[in-house]
Amino acid sequence: MANLLSSKPVQPDIPLFKVLMAPPAALMPRLQEVLYSGQISEGQPVAEFETRFGEWLGNPHCLAFYSGTAALHIALLLAGVQRGDEVVSTAMTAEPTNLAILHAGGVPRWADVDPANGNLTAASIEAAITPRTRAILVVHYGGIPAPLASITALAARYGLPVIEDAAHALGARYAGLPIGNHSPFVMFSLQAIKHMTTVDGGMLTCADASLLPRGRRLRWFGIDRHASRTSVDVTEVGFKYHMNNVNATIGLVQLAHIAPALTRHQDNGRYFDDILPRIPGLSVCQFEPAAEPSYWFYTLLCDDPDGLARHLSAHGIGNSKAHQRNDRHTVFAASRCELPGLDHFYARMLHIPCGWWVDDAAREYIVEVLRRGW
Ligand SMILES: Cc1ncc(COP(=O)(O)O)c(C=O)c1O
Repeated sequence: MANLLSSKPVQPDIPLFKVLMAPPAALMPRLQEVLYSGQISEGQPVAEFETRFGEWLGNPHCLAFYSGTAALHIALLLAGVQRGDEVVSTAMTAEPTNLAILHAGGVPRWADVDPANGNLTAASIEAAITPRTRAILVVHYGGIPAPLASITALAARYGLPVIEDAAHALGARYAGLPIGNHSPFVMFSLQAIKHMTTVDGGMLTCADASLLPRGRRLRWFGIDRHASRTSVDVTEVGFKYHMNNVNATIGLVQLAHIAPALTRHQDNGRYFDDILPRIPGLSVCQFEPAAEPSYWFYTLLCDDPDGLARHLSAHGIGNSKAHQRNDRHTVFAASRCELPGLDHFYARMLHIPCGWWVDDAAREYIVEVLRRGW
């Protein structure tokens, strides 16, 4: 891409996010078939998608939802969160992580993040636990796995369930196992710009298979879909959270095509991990050796992220902080507290693209632009 660095550069447009869709030849016949099958709500394709996703992940206990937020809400209910219960969580995430706690009637209690990567730590979680704590919600920010070994040990000591928000972490691994296999509940978002999309959707893994029937009821009005509709008794409030056959069919086709894309995210991430720390003024996130990130985006840390953002934008490289820290929202005002680790991380971070659409030339160009300084 040397021509891009000449005096009159051709500005490449390297977006921060991009929708990955399976090739039309693979997708369209399946989509046409399901659209005109007469069965477009929840049916066999959803069950098949849950099975295939579970096989792919190595965890057979999967429940599909119309969104990751819905999956998180149900995970919190299955974890036993009731009105007024506290859930230890992070403010360094997308809003739905913590809105789901409010949906369940709970109250987020912020634990501070590690300024080296934006994730919670076992120590920060422990400092936020009170007698009212009912669950721990951990986000793998940007796809960097949180320190699950110490968090899981802490949760066991306090008898608290861990819910992982793995919206950014499809394809990430921890201690050699794919994320989705370590905690009682793990949520994946299948929303438009995630590693894999079903247009919108979510998947929840449950370690305890005995919770699955209640999860299925809660996602569909509190009704067992297999029971006779006229004799069924609704015993608790359920929701309209099911995935439909159209989204599931897209998911089934996508699943067969995502491996190279996930590999490319990771390959780009490791390339940046290796090269970028050598650029003066830049640092990159540090994480445990057990963590193998999925690099949904790549997080840079520097003292002047606004200047860096202007420099990158001027060179056609997508960048953003991506999220407002959740503790700033009025809706979470009751949870406000001092978070010095988050203050430091949020003031320094900036996300740049590292997904499947960033080819060798594009990533070299990104490095060259960063080397020029800002
Ligand atoms: C960290 C995080 N959690 C939860 C969600 C919610 O997922 P969904 O949009 O599928 O409801 C998202 C994405 O939107 C997210 O980025």
